[in-house]
Amino acid sequence: MRSLIVAACVAVPALAAQGRPSPAPPPLGAWTPVPELPGMGRPVDTASVAARRRALLARVGRGVVLVPAAHERELERDYVQDNDFRQSNTFFYFTELETQDAWLLLVAGGGASETVLFLPPRTPLQERWTGLRLGPDSTAGRLSGIPRVLPTDSLDDALAAALFRVRGPLYVPLDQTTRDEQRIRELTFAGRDVRNLRPSADSMRLVKDADEIARMRKAVDISVLGHVAAMQAARPGVWEYEIEAALEAAFRRNGADRVGYPSIVGSGPNSTTLHYDVSRRQTREGDLVVVDAGAEWGQYTADVTRTFPVNGKFTPRQKAIYDLVLATQQVAFDSTRPGTTIAQLNRVARDYMRTHSGTLCGAETCDAYFIHGLSHWLGMDVHDVGDYSTPLKAGMVLTIEPGIYLAQESLGVRIEDDVLVTATGAEWLSAKAPRTTAEIERLMGRR
Ligand code: GLY
Ligand code: MN
Ligand code: MN
Repeated sequence: MRSLIVAACVAVPALAAQGRPSPAPPPLGAWTPVPELPGMGRPVDTASVAARRRALLARVGRGVVLVPAAHERELERDYVQDNDFRQSNTFFYFTELETQDAWLLLVAGGGASETVLFLPPRTPLQERWTGLRLGPDSTAGRLSGIPRVLPTDSLDDALAAALFRVRGPLYVPLDQTTRDEQRIRELTFAGRDVRNLRPSADSMRLVKDADEIARMRKAVDISVLGHVAAMQAARPGVWEYEIEAALEAAFRRNGADRVGYPSIVGSGPNSTTLHYDVSRRQTREGDLVVVDAGAEWGQYTADVTRTFPVNGKFTPRQKAIYDLVLATQQVAFDSTRPGTTIAQLNRVARDYMRTHSGTLCGAETCDAYFIHGLSHWLGMDVHDVGDYSTPLKAGMVLTIEPGIYLAQESLGVRIEDDVLVTATGAEWLSAKAPRTTAEIERLMGRR
């Protein structure tokens, strides 16, 4: 995983750390799989993806956009930890298709815009191993909402014709596998104006549309159930991997596709290591446990952290540190609204922690032990794409995750919630996971 830690600066006045999170949203309705085409995954929100493609074409103005899908990973060569395919985020954003080895061609200008999906031919023999796949036929057109679907071997001609007609640049995501890079080189010719699609495509992902927010709510709701299961599984003497197993079992039991990133279950001294993810220690009486874990659902991930005492009861010292982190998080949340920046939120949080530390952290104020950034964007990537200096707008999703890590005391606390920016402020997405010391103790007391 890329390292977290986004730099921060600039100040806004801290607001009072009052009030409880607003009620969590109702759970998303069940999504029906498409039984006749397992390779295709879940239904496509054809209106949403068409709107995203139109918005991209409007940005491009004149040019041709070519986006390859991902490929199956190879068992013998790659480290295949969950399953052997996850769609490229850029391709998914503009299609919501989970099919592999496909290409999306978008043409802007030159008379009329055009969208073409290229799919490899179906191979019945191969499908004995892989299950059914989408092929270049009318079913793919119907399910994808892209009426023009052609076989991948017609891509060369179609691209050449589009470039000739439009006489504009060719945009491709320049982050692809070597396989794609070679193919893209074959498909273009020397002197052609080839540009990176990623800056435009990535910036579109900052503000989530309704379909994306629904996916994120589902990923977060599943993650909350995992965190509750982790708290319920904890007691002194259990191994970190047992807590991780309970957490991830709840993810899968509730329909998660995979984890959004390797789960972090750090007890005692490991609670102070930010991205500890090996889960090999046996917990002991008196430990705090930091669980930082998010389920992925429908290509979108949550990113939630809870810290709890393994025996279910905070010591006064643990509670004091915890409450400072909690109040810091609340202050940052209260400042979250359109127009603010992540840098400003970071400053608000650090100012609050510094001025409310008292002697809790000894000679230093506690912000000296808050050693990472407060927030990052969240979406298909756990540290989602997009410019971090962008002022907040309704529809953006970010984490708020202050922490204090006192390695000399084996005492680490991080509280991380996922927050949706609304027209007037912000909404906690992950509020259903017990968050105050009283809520955590109540839940753990019922084990
Ligand atoms: N789970 C990694 C992070 O909080 O950024
Ligand atoms: Mn995070
Ligand atoms: Mn996290």
